[in-house]
Amino acid sequence: MSPLICLVALLGGLYVLGVFRKQRPGEPPLDKGLIPWLGHVLEFRRDTFKFLERMRQKHGDVFTVQLGGFYFTFLQDPFSFGAFVKESREKLDFNSFAEQLVYRVFGYKAVENDHHVLHNASNKHLKGEGLEVMTQAMMSNLQNLMLHSVGSATDQSPWKEDGLFMYSYNIVFRAGFLALFGNVPHKSEGGEEKAKEKDRTHSETLFYEFRKYDQLFPNLAYGVLPPKQKWEADRLQSYFWDAVSVQNMKAKDNISRWVWDMQQAKEEVGMDESMINKYMFVLLWASQGNTGPSSFGPSLLLSPRLPQTYAAHFQINSWLLRFWSQEPHPGQKQTLEVISSLFWWGSLTRRCQKMCLSVWNISKLSKGANSSHSRPQIELKICYYNMPWGAGVSMCPGRFFATNELKQFVFLMLVYFEFELKNPNEEIPEIDFRRWGFGSMQPIRDVQFRYRLRF
Ligand code: HEM
Repeated sequence: MSPLICLVALLGGLYVLGVFRKQRPGEPPLDKGLIPWLGHVLEFRRDTFKFLERMRQKHGDVFTVQLGGFYFTFLQDPFSFGAFVKESREKLDFNSFAEQLVYRVFGYKAVENDHHVLHNASNKHLKGEGLEVMTQAMMSNLQNLMLHSVGSATDQSPWKEDGLFMYSYNIVFRAGFLALFGNVPHKSEGGEEKAKEKDRTHSETLFYEFRKYDQLFPNLAYGVLPPKQKWEADRLQSYFWDAVSVQNMKAKDNISRWVWDMQQAKEEVGMDESMINKYMFVLLWASQGNTGPSSFGPSLLLSPRLPQTYAAHFQINSWLLRFWSQEPHPGQKQTLEVISSLFWWGSLTRRCQKMCLSVWNISKLSKGANSSHSRPQIELKICYYNMPWGAGVSMCPGRFFATNELKQFVFLMLVYFEFELKNPNEEIPEIDFRRWGFGSMQPIRDVQFRYRLRF
């Protein structure tokens, strides 16, 4: 190789590693870290909060750092979020970063019209009448999963024990998956009960594989997985490409219009089927990665025995009493209208949802404000105290459905089950900082609870 080619290759390599990148006029301070390309990613992964705090002290509220080949700008002053999120897509384009990330973690190569198709389908099917259909589907799947094998109160059924995080995540994930990706047809299994059972077993396997991927996800996204875990991530990717493949989906009943329309749109532009399968995995991740973990917060905050929830429980129990006295069939399907007709229920779940989505962030913001009573006050003062759905041009299109999913799950927990935490003095577990930046936060440990049917 001639010396000139060597020099060009060397300079090209150094360019890719980010060696020549400098802070340009008008840009925030740039901190590339000492390791080329990786930058600060190892320290960032070890303890994100500590790292960001260190950078804030060094550079102020706004700074850019290099993490695994990407440059991330952090904005830590919540009072300036408002102006920032209102910027146009030209100035605040998330697409090119999202495309690279989606390729790295799902193997999907984005095409030109992707975003447009996604937003059309979401506007049609995750809002208005479409949302009602989705919500009904969610309800029947939640009932299938929650009511099976819990016996009945008349059998004096014993309490069942579980981790509240795993239980909530499991049920909400599986019901959401079935509502979006469809059910096993009754015909193919020779009856409704058999088909429902197959939905339960299949979604259970999927959940456990998803959870494995979920745990590898942050390091996979930052490109710092050790080889053995990278191999496992590759295996899981292949598993999901198959599990939610077009072929498997076409054998299902009740596929949501949201998923169906997107799959059709990809077929119409002549996308290769194996690539559509990868896109289906993207949709699975986007729709299920956050909702399950988010259901833990409201369930925990509404658990009897957690001192701050007594007042809320008193309200719920007295409302339930009234509700049952008007309703002769407690097991019957609860409709969205019934749920939303309850004024206090709406405000309570909204508050719980906000609390669970923001609970840990706010306690960090407010430093030392550990009591749940102080959180809503902070919400009032800071408009963009946190942004669970993102903001601006790429705000989550599934937020209305997700809100309903959470309400439905918590509603059924309260209506169907007596449940309580095993430890009456349970502390709210700390957040797992290693997941910072990847959607809903998860607790570092689970909280044991027990439950049994109310009726
Ligand atoms: C509690 C549950 C959920 C949370 C916290 C959540 C949060 C988010 C966030 C933060 C984003 C990125 C927004 C941005 O870039 O600014 C996002 C994107 C997205 N979410 Fe959600 N989400 C949830 C549930 C759902 C559900 C149930 C669906 C679908 C049924 C969904 C579909 C999507 C899609 C398709 C995107 C990508 C949007 C785009 O590229 O423009 N999400 N979500």
